[in-house]
Amino acid sequence: NWTMENFIDMEVSKIRDVVGDSQVLCALSGGVDSSVVAALVHKAIGDQLTCMFIDHGLLRKGEADSVMDTFSEGFDMNVVKIDAKDRFLGKLEGVSDPEEKRKIIGNEFIYVFEEQASSLKDMDYLAQGTLYTDIIESGTDTAQTIKSHHNVGGLPEDMKFDLIEPLNTLFKDEVRKVGTELGLPDDIVWRQPFPGPGLGIRVLGEITEDKLEIVRESDAILRDEIKKAGLDREIWQYFTALPDMRSVGVMGDARTYDYTVGVRAVTSVDGMTSDWARIPYDVLEKISTRIVNEVAHVNRVVYDITSKPPSTIEWE
Ligand code: XMP
Repeated sequence: NWTMENFIDMEVSKIRDVVGDSQVLCALSGGVDSSVVAALVHKAIGDQLTCMFIDHGLLRKGEADSVMDTFSEGFDMNVVKIDAKDRFLGKLEGVSDPEEKRKIIGNEFIYVFEEQASSLKDMDYLAQGTLYTDIIESGTDTAQTIKSHHNVGGLPEDMKFDLIEPLNTLFKDEVRKVGTELGLPDDIVWRQPFPGPGLGIRVLGEITEDKLEIVRESDAILRDEIKKAGLDREIWQYFTALPDMRSVGVMGDARTYDYTVGVRAVTSVDGMTSDWARIPYDVLEKISTRIVNEVAHVNRVVYDITSKPPSTIEWE
């Protein structure tokens, strides 16, 4: 019979069998999936695991520091941080197509990993937090592919790693249970999902440093207010997106022509379908007021009230 303990024991022995004396590299992003996979593989093979945390410059405000604090301090894991911001943003310059951006970011991840792996020591395996839902949505038939999630599709032909994907039979709620069972802290286990391409798909169209800053700052305000309102556990995902548009506003006596920030907050069980979160009006008001007042070049805030389907959770 299937229980969390059984699952962990089974996966631990499977990982040990597969890996043997080899070295495993893990793509640690700080999200639930990669954190749980890191903890699980670490439980199985200890210091044969090296976690690599790539800062692609598309992370949320304060995220890089918090990931390093949590895993270097709290867990006795070997974590290498790679600052690859310039490299990613360089490759993304002038690119506005969402799938193209995903492909570039996903491939760049693999290239950076490969380079770092060969400079570290002989890394044979790559551990990834691919879930059951990632596999379903990516599909095998291109016509059916909804999105090329970087952790399933688009790997380069010459990839040198064999993949270990111990979570690929699980749904998100099961992954959280495994994480708790493995002793991961609540702030990681209950962290909202964050896409691999990060803020790169929340700046709609071409990515610039200025636009990233707007998304990063407005997202930090949204997270702060959602947490203060005590809604952070019941809302599956909440973030801001920056459409490639400006509109007219008025500030004092002056007419403004500035950006619109989209607020997205959804309830969901597994990310496959979702509904928009019924955030109380006073919380929405606080969010809107703070974003317009505190984030430069924003004069309008809109709230996304579409469900998935027909919409998706992300805007790209
Ligand atoms: P959508 O937008 O398809 O998102 O409703 C469903 C879930 O998947 C996440 N997502 C991604 N995760 N790479 C990822 O690792 C991606 O390219 C990607 N696109 C969407 C999204 O945040 C939501 O949790």
